[in-house]
Amino acid sequence: MIELKNIHKSFGSKHVLNGINLHIVKGESFIILGGSGTGKSVMLKHIIGLMKPDKGRVFIDGKDVTDYTREQWFDIRRRFGMSFQEAALFDFMNVFENVAFPIRRHTRSTEMEIKKRVGYCLDIVGLSGNELLMPAELSGGMRRRAGFARSIALNPEVLLFDEPTTGLDPVMTDQIDNVINDLRRGLDVTCVTITHDMVSAFDIADRMVMLHEGEIVFTGTPDDVMKSRLPIIRSFLKGRICEEKTQ
Ligand SMILES: Nc1ncnc2c1ncn2[C@@H]1O[C@H](COP(=O)(O)OP(=O)(O)OP(=O)(O)O)[C@@H](O)[C@H]1O
Ligand SMILES: [Mg+2]
Repeated sequence: MIELKNIHKSFGSKHVLNGINLHIVKGESFIILGGSGTGKSVMLKHIIGLMKPDKGRVFIDGKDVTDYTREQWFDIRRRFGMSFQEAALFDFMNVFENVAFPIRRHTRSTEMEIKKRVGYCLDIVGLSGNELLMPAELSGGMRRRAGFARSIALNPEVLLFDEPTTGLDPVMTDQIDNVINDLRRGLDVTCVTITHDMVSAFDIADRMVMLHEGEIVFTGTPDDVMKSRLPIIRSFLKGRICEEKTQ
């Protein structure tokens, strides 16, 4: 469904992606792991056309979308729900309007339908009753959850999440993981998630990749990850587990 072929990306003299190849199958939950600054967010932005590769091609449903125009991307993005690390909410819109935004933009739903859908999405992330708050009035975790609610507003076929649970407490993290799993079970949704949270990763993954120095150094199931003797995987797992213990 999503394929990256030999993607290279540099910013000035800094090579961030050095020949990324990956293939994400329809309906799977695909996790991207890797240290800070290794290019995970940059890679995700290539999947949705927010960044263009210096070299290499991006395919969606077998079509080469690398050189698509903004208008062509508009149609594709309707099928994608994204929740980025920065939880880019519109500062001038309240929570309700933020979640309603993609629905207004991409559909002709009535106010009644919009209200129902927004209510449903906010309920899922535990934000019911906060519809009228502005982003500046939300905590970091609430902003993330509002961003998550907005990403699922259009019932997307593909969900792209950049650290959806960072900064959330364990109960809320669990709830978001459950939502991701429910969405996938019910709707055959394809999910691509970047996470630092190994508990989450194992909860929701079908397959995982590890990014290191601009390359994919490992691909496998959660089971393969546990069994892997690759030093980079071992130290990542160990680091994460120590971190979680001290939290
Ligand atoms: N728009 C940009 N312009 C210049 N450099 C950028 C840009 N976006 C990312 N970079 C650089 O690319 C590298 C990878 O960034 P990226 O955001 O993908 O890291 P990451 O793996 O998502 O890290 P983290 O886990 O901290 O979110 C970083 O060195 C960053 O400074
Ligand atoms: Mg990132």
